[in-house]
Parts: sequence; structure tokens; C-alpha cells
Amino acid sequence: MKLKGKVAFLTGAAGAGIGQATARLLAKEGANVVITDAHEERSRTVAKEIASELSVNTLGVGCDVTQRSAVEAAVKAALERFGSIDILVNNAGTNRPTPVITMADETWDLVLNTTLRGTFYCCRAVLPAMIEQGSGRIVNIGSTAAFMGLSAGHAHYAAAKAGLTAFTRCLAMEAAPHYITVNTVSPSFIYNEFIPHIYPEDEIRRMQEMIPYPRKGTPDDVAQTVLFLVTDGEYVTGQTICVTGGSWMH
Ligand SMILES: NC(=O)c1ccc[n+]([C@@H]2O[C@H](COP(=O)([O-])OP(=O)(O)OC[C@H]3O[C@@H](n4cnc5c(N)ncnc54)[C@H](O)[C@@H]3O)[C@@H](O)[C@H]2O)c1
Repeated sequence: MKLKGKVAFLTGAAGAGIGQATARLLAKEGANVVITDAHEERSRTVAKEIASELSVNTLGVGCDVTQRSAVEAAVKAALERFGSIDILVNNAGTNRPTPVITMADETWDLVLNTTLRGTFYCCRAVLPAMIEQGSGRIVNIGSTAAFMGLSAGHAHYAAAKAGLTAFTRCLAMEAAPHYITVNTVSPSFIYNEFIPHIYPEDEIRRMQEMIPYPRKGTPDDVAQTVLFLVTDGEYVTGQTICVTGGSWMH
């Protein structure tokens, strides 16, 4: 158990994808986990399930990361409950595929604010506690959309994820003197049961065909990379690690 007694705070962790899979994997390694998500009830339910299945302490809190007060309240609740936050995983993300020419301001703002503003709010709220304890691991969930044109309709999403990569590098410089690492894990297409509600069938087929490795990527593939960064990967910081089945190589 590499994370026994550590506390991990995750955003967007009550869904069917990478966030919940990462929370479960960190809990399997003994971490107490703070499950936050815009869906408050699901956050509580997932937190309860993990506590009873994996015998760790958990807290489930509703937290829309685009709202500064919600982020600050969730971090405060986590610190009151556990006394420290050792790991922050900024996983919350959203996409509303739309061509630029017809994109509403609100659509642009929603996608940018969830990824960029949300990550900024969470880092700013958690860093004082990490600095005080002289250690911490921050992992941002990016996307290879930052480096390659996904397809028409993803300009806002790609711009947000590219911004996240730049944010990661700069914050890693600021945080390093405090023994805090900051990295981005950037997946390409990772299948979960909600994907068909977001993307049309031919788009899903097209994304899968771009992957040389002969199976679908799973949320757990990404979670395993996060686990490395928050356990053995102490000297890795400011990096973007891509989990793509070979669909993006650099
Ligand atoms: N699934 C993929 O193919 C894929 C590929 C590349 C990157 N990603 C990124 O991985 C992350 C996880 O995506 P996933 O597809 O695995 O699903 P997921 O279930 O892990 O994450 C989505 C969760 O974020 C929550 N969320 C959305 N807006 C929020 C907000 N404002 N505040 C708090 N929570 C919010 C949703 O309720 C949902 O539970 C996202 O950042 C996504 O952009 C996913």
C-alpha cells in the first residue's frame, strides 16, 4: 500500500470515467479520498461506495470547479476532515463539440472555465496546505487534443487543454522549491459508458481507428499513470505524459 494515510482530493470524480477510476485506484493503495464533482449526490454516493468497498476514509462533496466559493468550501471541508491534502487530481472537464463559427460565448466559457479556471481555483486553494507540509503531488488531466486537431468542433476544448499544459509547466516551477510536483496526464480516446452520449457513433469509430494499440483505452490506463506520478515518480515534474495506445507519439 503505497499511499496509506495519504489524502487525495479529486475533481469530477463521481462520473463513469477517469476521475472515479483514479479515486478507486488511489484508495486501493490506501489513500483516503475526497470525491468532488458538480453532481453533489453522486459525489456522496461514490464516496460511500469506496469507503465500504476499500476500507478507507472518504468524503463526498458537491463542487462545481468553475465556482471559486464552491472550490474553497470543498478544500476547507477536506482539510477539516483529514488535516492535510497530499494529492490533487484536477480531472473535471467537459466538451460541447461546436464549430467556432456558430459557437456561443457561453459554450466557449463553459469549456475553458471547467478546465482552466477550475484547475487554477483548485491549485490555488490547495497549495497553501501543501506548502506548509513541504510536500504534494498535483496531477492535471489534459488531452492530446492540445497537440493534434481532434476534428472540427473541438477548438475550445483543444485550447483549454493546451492552456493546461502551459499552466502545468509554470506552476511546476513555482511549486518545486516546496517539494511539490505538478504534471499533466494527457489521454487520447478513453472509452467509458457515457462516451456514446457525447460523441456520434462514426466519431467514436474514427477516434478508435486512430489508435495503433489493438484495444480500447480504459479509465484505469490513465489512473495507473496518475498513480505512478503520485507514488514513485517524485523527480518527475512539469511534464505531460500521454496515455494514447500510440495514437500520439512525441
Ligand atoms: N474520455 C476521453 O476520451 C478523454 C480523452 C482525453 C481527455 N479526457 C479528459 O479526462 C477527464 C475525465 O473525463 P472522462 O471522460 O474520463 O469522464 P469523467 O467521468 O472522469 O469526468 C467527467 C466528470 O467531470 C464532472 N464535471 C463536469 N463539469 C464539472 C464542473 N464544472 N465541476 C466539477 N465537476 C465537473 C462531470 O460531472 C463528470 O463526473 C476530463 O478532463 C476529460 O477532458 C478524456
